[in-house]
Amino acid sequence: MLYSLVRKALFAVDPETAHDLTLEALKLGGWSGATRLLCREKDQPVQCMGLTFPNPVGVAPGLDKNADCFEALGDLGFGFVEVGTVTPRPQQGNPKPRVFRLTKAQAMINRLGFNNKGVDYLVERVRNHRFRGVLGINIGKNFDTPMERATEDYLHCLDKVYPFADYVTVNISSPNTKNLRDLQGEHELDALLGALAERRTELSDQYDRCVPLALKVAPDLDDDAIAVIAQVVSHHRMDAVIATNTTIDRAAVANMEHAEEAGGLSGAPLKEKADRVLGELRQALPPEVGMIGVGGITCGQDAVDKLDLGADLVQFYTGMVYRGPDLVTECLESIAARRTE
Ligand SMILES: Cc1cc2nc3c(=O)[nH]c(=O)nc-3n(C[C@H](O)[C@H](O)[C@H](O)COP(=O)(O)O)c2cc1C
Repeated sequence: MLYSLVRKALFAVDPETAHDLTLEALKLGGWSGATRLLCREKDQPVQCMGLTFPNPVGVAPGLDKNADCFEALGDLGFGFVEVGTVTPRPQQGNPKPRVFRLTKAQAMINRLGFNNKGVDYLVERVRNHRFRGVLGINIGKNFDTPMERATEDYLHCLDKVYPFADYVTVNISSPNTKNLRDLQGEHELDALLGALAERRTELSDQYDRCVPLALKVAPDLDDDAIAVIAQVVSHHRMDAVIATNTTIDRAAVANMEHAEEAGGLSGAPLKEKADRVLGELRQALPPEVGMIGVGGITCGQDAVDKLDLGADLVQFYTGMVYRGPDLVTECLESIAARRTE
């Protein structure tokens, strides 16, 4: 009810300004303690990647790229927040405008290009915090790091965030960093995950704590590509796969305003593709590998569908823009109802 008024105001300005205003409001709310007054206790504990999540509903990365307001997001009832994507050095991202609403379809297209303040800034933000949920940190490469040196960027970020993350996500699936998704190919993925797994072993010894690693994949993968990813993930003992990032496919929004903008499509029209990849990966992966389902959740049933396909946890971003914090409550209620069925 309240969010419908807020949404009216936010949709009156361009999407990126609306996003910045929302983050400022959340920061203020978190800092002043106002979001704590809203604080919704949402206990539905679930195990994944060897961690206990207070509940299975999380914030997808991109919403809080610099970890400026993850504590306030936790107050809204999320069981976990994934911050980032963060890169070794700060970067501006692509020229504006670079985020578009497809309101009729409850969708967005973005080509932000990993705009973020860099890993050192993020580490200062997460060093001491009051968040009681699970904190994921999503890492990527700078746009101007040559692809043959991409592994160095991921290792650099892993080293920096390791002591502060509950889990770390390796993002190789954004369509907005040139050639990034090539890292999903067999040879490239094997080399990247091999290097990260080896570094994780060293860091576990150093910090006496093994931080789970998750891999985030694209929805635009055919059956063969999914089989290859499942095989490489198992081989390098990744702890979870996150399916999926945004899509470059526009079939579901053909002829709509902004449909031809370059970038990744998110929200309701992504759900079918994201669910297909989630289901196929679940079938192909051993049960000990966790699955996080993301893409197109705009109501409680959408979250339940992902659990039915084998997800342990779910996340959303675009649904938060269209539905506000009520979507968290609705997802948790639908998931609780599914448990008692
Ligand atoms: C504006 C915007 C920025 C995003 N930035 C990131 C990012 O930095 N890293 C990432 O892994 N995913 C990013 N995503 C993708 C989301 O995390 C999510 O995978 C995708 O939007 C599908 O979920 P949804 O339909 O609930 O939005 C972004 C999505 C949007 C809409």
